[in-house]
Amino acid sequence: MATASNSILTKHERDDIDQWLQRYPEDQSQSALLAALRAVMHEDHYLSVEKMDAVAEYLNLSKIAVYEVASFYSMYEMDEKAAGKNTISVCTNVSCMLNGSDKIVDHIEGRLGIKMGETTPDGEFFFKVEEECLAACCGAPMMQLNHVYHENLTPEKVDGLLDAVVANIAKKEGGHG
Ligand code: FES
Repeated sequence: MATASNSILTKHERDDIDQWLQRYPEDQSQSALLAALRAVMHEDHYLSVEKMDAVAEYLNLSKIAVYEVASFYSMYEMDEKAAGKNTISVCTNVSCMLNGSDKIVDHIEGRLGIKMGETTPDGEFFFKVEEECLAACCGAPMMQLNHVYHENLTPEKVDGLLDAVVANIAKKEGGHG
């Protein structure tokens, strides 16, 4: 059973995890782990050690069991630099590399003025370090922008996607978002 007294997780996170726990037998709380980490990601945009430990406690799992899952799947972000940012992940594995991912990486670095692993000076974009295969090889080259897949990329297509994010930021800053 979940530990109701766990106070590090927000109520929203606990409610989200609870509705997943209901789907599994009581002794199979590990089945809700992926969803629990996703709930934390949704709120914080990254997984802090404190939150991962809280998830372990909530699901009655060992801390290492949670760390293993969090570090295995690249859609979980464990770098605080990504918190609150627009996150870009370009796959640079074989299929994407053969279809021009290096050109996409160069284009993004040039446009944002940063290298992989860095955040733009205004704090709006975080360009994750090189990704392994993200399982969309037939759409190579591809990237995730805020965890949404975009495939068959060209520099022009990347510009359109980034323009949309920038427009959204401007809209929010203008108080209309
Ligand atoms: S190699 Fe890029 S998605 Fe598989």
